[in-house]
Amino acid sequence: MVAMARELAHEFVFRFGHEPKMSRAPGRVNLIGEHTDYNDGFVMPAALEFATLVAAAPRADRRLRAYSMTMDETREFDLEAPAGARREWSDYVFGVAVMLERSGRRLNGADLAIWTDLPLGAGLSSSAAIEVSVAHALLTSADLPFDPVPVAKLCQRAENEFVGMRCGVMDQYVSACGVKGNALLIDCRSLESRNVPIAPNLRLLVANSNVRHQHAGGEYNARRAACEEGVRLLARALGPIAALRDVTLADLEANRKRLPDLVFGRCRHVVSENERVLEAERALRSGDFVACGKAMNASHASMRDDFEITCPEVDFLAAAAQGLRGVYGSRMTGGGFGGCTVSLVEASEVERVSQILVDDYRVGCGRKAEVFVCSPSAGAGLVRLE
Ligand code: GLA
Repeated sequence: MVAMARELAHEFVFRFGHEPKMSRAPGRVNLIGEHTDYNDGFVMPAALEFATLVAAAPRADRRLRAYSMTMDETREFDLEAPAGARREWSDYVFGVAVMLERSGRRLNGADLAIWTDLPLGAGLSSSAAIEVSVAHALLTSADLPFDPVPVAKLCQRAENEFVGMRCGVMDQYVSACGVKGNALLIDCRSLESRNVPIAPNLRLLVANSNVRHQHAGGEYNARRAACEEGVRLLARALGPIAALRDVTLADLEANRKRLPDLVFGRCRHVVSENERVLEAERALRSGDFVACGKAMNASHASMRDDFEITCPEVDFLAAAAQGLRGVYGSRMTGGGFGGCTVSLVEASEVERVSQILVDDYRVGCGRKAEVFVCSPSAGAGLVRLE
């Protein structure tokens, strides 16, 4: 990462002719708690070592100039006359600038150069990583403080209102607040979190199916709408409830007839997933990795059958991992409709498991999977260039 940061700094000097500071924000893998964040529920992600770097330096005017090394494109934006979304990568950059300014944080113009080693659109939060790293860079350039939780909320807002994806706060939160060696148990209602240490004998194995289904964004928003519909219908029986967080499995079963089957299934996933997150946290803290793995496997089944956000390729990868010695549990991670699985694996078995997964996936699905052994990293911050 430091070598890459130096290279990006070089590129920056070459393009813009002055010395930058370097901000970094990571992607994430979610151990458990999928589609619970926008239902005021619980999630348990960890920040990754894969990250986005932003080299930045202030300008005397109020213009932003952003160069993406990944796309090899430059885009400009005038903070005095903010334009709307262009439906491309720069929306994540300028959307964040707009939301920071709307929150009363007055920015300088800035030159930015952006690089990432996160696979794009693989469900590892490349979007949150660019948003949070840009927020860090813009605030640093303007000599303003980076308050991780409020900034995470503003980045979420940029994605909701500027990009048009109604995501929850999990990805931006863990990208801003991640803690090395730990997953975070985030309460998405109170926005408080606690560290959940990942034991030294465990490895988080991420397998990328390399499948990304079209319309994933539309399907995501449709799941969110179904959850809101569930709350509206359940409120008739349960009184004023704000979110599915306020519903128990018993409430849900007792009111099954009030909900269309599809909405019932969506709600059952969210309500049961919240319980599984807390069970997984308890299990990880007490060293009961078998119980944690069981919760992960059950989470996958619930995403597949009730929430219907998996696809044959990730189902294949999760099932293949679940059957292997040394694997405690395996599930799809992230928004769904393709992307990655995460498996909780005994350290001594991780290489064997990785190899088998890649081989089985090639034979079973005729595709190439990439596997990464991940260590939980720290959230956003400055990278020292010396
Ligand atoms: C995406 C969203 C998150 C969350 C997950 C599903 O990553 O950005 O807010 O809803 O999907 O858990």
